Amino acid sequence: MKIAVVGSGYVGLVTGACLANLGHEVICVDKDKKRISSLKKAIVPFYEPGLPELVKKNQKAKRLSFSSDLSFAVIASEVVFIAVGTPPKKDGEADVSAVRAVAEGIALAMMKKDGFKVIVNKSTVPVGMGDIVTKILLEEGVDDELFSVVSNPEFLREGSAISDFMHPDRIVIGASNNRAFNLITELYRPLNAHIIFTSVKSAELIKYASNSFLATKISFINEIANICEKVGSDVTEVAYGMGLDKRIGGQFLNPGLGYGGSCFPKDVSALIHLAKKSGYEPKILNAAGAVNNNQINLFIKKIHKRLGNLKNKKIAVLGLAFKPETDDLRDAPSLKVVAALKKAKAKVAVYDPVSKLSEFTNPYDAVKGVEAIVFATEWNEFRELDFERVKKLAPNAIVFDGRNIYDKKRMAEVGIEYYGVGR
Ligand SMILES: NC(=O)c1ccc[n+]([C@@H]2O[C@H](COP(=O)([O-])OP(=O)(O)OC[C@H]3O[C@@H](n4cnc5c(N)ncnc54)[C@H](O)[C@@H]3O)[C@@H](O)[C@H]2O)c1
Repeated sequence: MKIAVVGSGYVGLVTGACLANLGHEVICVDKDKKRISSLKKAIVPFYEPGLPELVKKNQKAKRLSFSSDLSFAVIASEVVFIAVGTPPKKDGEADVSAVRAVAEGIALAMMKKDGFKVIVNKSTVPVGMGDIVTKILLEEGVDDELFSVVSNPEFLREGSAISDFMHPDRIVIGASNNRAFNLITELYRPLNAHIIFTSVKSAELIKYASNSFLATKISFINEIANICEKVGSDVTEVAYGMGLDKRIGGQFLNPGLGYGGSCFPKDVSALIHLAKKSGYEPKILNAAGAVNNNQINLFIKKIHKRLGNLKNKKIAVLGLAFKPETDDLRDAPSLKVVAALKKAKAKVAVYDPVSKLSEFTNPYDAVKGVEAIVFATEWNEFRELDFERVKKLAPNAIVFDGRNIYDKKRMAEVGIEYYGVGR
């Protein structure tokens, strides 16, 4: 199938490269010309394991190409994916201006050449956006017989995006007619995945509801962790005991600094905004956000309680990315931790295996002579840290583990004073 993917960021580029790998002919489009010229040279502008290789392979096979010409890509394709950003506005509402702009561009291109096309919204958008895209196309003069708008939300996780795309738990196709549903089903056929057919509006809400549920699960276990600290239980044991219940499940029961990244905070805020706008006060979502916002304050309080005044105290923060295996810093809890420590006038040294903000090339240089080490991302390389060496470099360093990476007993054995979350 001939496909255009508009927006060549985390989602668009992964979608484009994976669909090309399934045998489709894909043109990835972006308004960022620099990004497109790098991608033409197979340079991927962010860190995602396996993606550069997949891009290179499919470019070489002539199934994947890049362009900043939206019109050219739309005319050449029967399916057009919209995968542009939908960042939060100040009041939490999703900013859908990029989706609107792309819809207008698609309409203009469709006026130049006839032929039925399915427009697929892969960006995370508020319920009703499918109708808005349809309206934009109709208002621009595109014949309603010539297109159908489908919602096909994306559930991939940064860091394991390719595997998530290729082996999804489900593919949601929200469509208003069988023709569009069947075409998109055919596109995904090689994945042999569980495909569900819903209304466009249900598909749009499935994405927000899924992310908000996962975010709520994180806030729930953070709340339990905070209770554990008061009553003397260990949240690691509690979460393990809870997670073995199949109705609960063990994933997303990891307490810590709270959720961050480019999706959970903005999607919870957008759903809260959508609910309120529709006349419903969402109590659970409000609480999930409130618990999350407080999690870093509680962690910083813990550091203050143990170290007192932080002025001029040397503190290393290890891990910046919002989660391992990505360089994405959007809404990363680590940045709030660093900002709070700097506000308290601590001397902060930061290390991350892939982020450009890292000041060191390895964690050992970052911890030299520090009084405290804060772990903000659970990178695998930290799991294997040589704490004997750390002890030599920073003999009095206290560990504040914001991700519960380490075993308390092991820390005690190497003689390191250790504070986790909820333990
Ligand atoms: N990142 C994730 O893990 C993830 C997962 C699932 C869903 N989503 C959703 O997917 C969407 C895209 O997210 P992302 O992380 O890939 O964003 P991103 O910021 O990495 O990429 C968006 C790209 O769109 C381009 N763009 C913006 N306006 C454009 C226009 N008018 N024409 C052409 N290109 C344009 C930008 O230049 C950028 O390269 C969002 O709605 C997001 O919520 C993201």
